[in-house]
Amino acid sequence: YTRQSGIIARYREFLPVTDKTPMLTLHEGNTPLIHAPNLSKELGLDLHFKYEGLNPTGSFKDRGMVMAVAKAIEEGSTTIMCASTGNTSAAAAAYAARAGLRCIVLIPNGNIALGKLAQAIAYGAEVIAIDGNFDEALNIVREITATEPITLVNSVNPYRIEGQKTSSYEICDALGKAPDILAIPVGNAGNITAYWKGFKEYKAADRISTLPKMYGFQAAGAAPLVLGHKVENPETIATAIRIGNPASKEGAQNALRESEGYIDSVTDEEILDAYRLLASKEGIFCEPASAASLAGIIKARKAGKVADGLTVACVLTGNGLKDPNIALKAVGAEPREVAATREAVMAVITGSKGE
Ligand code: F0G
Repeated sequence: YTRQSGIIARYREFLPVTDKTPMLTLHEGNTPLIHAPNLSKELGLDLHFKYEGLNPTGSFKDRGMVMAVAKAIEEGSTTIMCASTGNTSAAAAAYAARAGLRCIVLIPNGNIALGKLAQAIAYGAEVIAIDGNFDEALNIVREITATEPITLVNSVNPYRIEGQKTSSYEICDALGKAPDILAIPVGNAGNITAYWKGFKEYKAADRISTLPKMYGFQAAGAAPLVLGHKVENPETIATAIRIGNPASKEGAQNALRESEGYIDSVTDEEILDAYRLLASKEGIFCEPASAASLAGIIKARKAGKVADGLTVACVLTGNGLKDPNIALKAVGAEPREVAATREAVMAVITGSKGE
């Protein structure tokens, strides 16, 4: 294989790949693990960010989607369907376009970031906006795909988890060991399930000798796993994780228990603080939901739940460009508008009024 050939070819020994599985790829995976010198110093940790926003459609969903779509093709399916807060639909639409499949996506009307909606439409998916939230959309999709000849590509499809677990391998390879802590935003809980599976399999294959503790973070207004019960009307500015009834609840609970991990919630304010910190201190632009991983680590560190100097890998699940409206609102700064002259620009730079 080459470094460019995508996760199915790179990790076929760890994946449910047969002679009949198509080597579908948009060159997903192989994303950077970025060391964060400034925040490491500030927090007294060895902090790294797995920047999944550099996948072909801008989120971690590409890893799982390429596997799910390849297996759908292998099984003779011609149509895929998902419910989504945006990123899953973008990934499904892209791989369906490449593979020549029909793609139907259900989204919660008014609660998906503009960039994600633009992607699904540009890739040619049939986009249906329901007057309801993600949990309701997923219920409808599960009902329809149970009886129709349509492949469900949400993370309840086990091939999604298989593809997504490959990010754990990359983190371990980049560090030369497993991190002490893996911090991750949790919505529908597929990704925390996938990462934990990946770490356990890498250890079983003798590629690493220790396992990380899994630290999951939910938005305070959408924190069913922290509260221990469903949330009827989840609310958060991090629309990607605006989910009240996670489908992979058991996978998440298992990862937390087995790794002796930790789950907590972070407020929208804490999420936005972490989001701004990442961009302004490290030059990394992620979407708000992704910043929940750093927000959670900051909170846990303050509460004494993370020891000095530990190696922490925070998963940044999606690219900041997905949600430009939040960026402009959250930072609040606006461009200075001036005349098109050297003098006017110099006046701004030197801080003189220039009138
Ligand atoms: N971060 C981002 C950017 C996401 O898009 C999602 C999930 C998560 C974190 C949470 O991952 O659901 O596996 O716990 N987005 C799904 C979607 C729900 O439809 O795009 P999870």
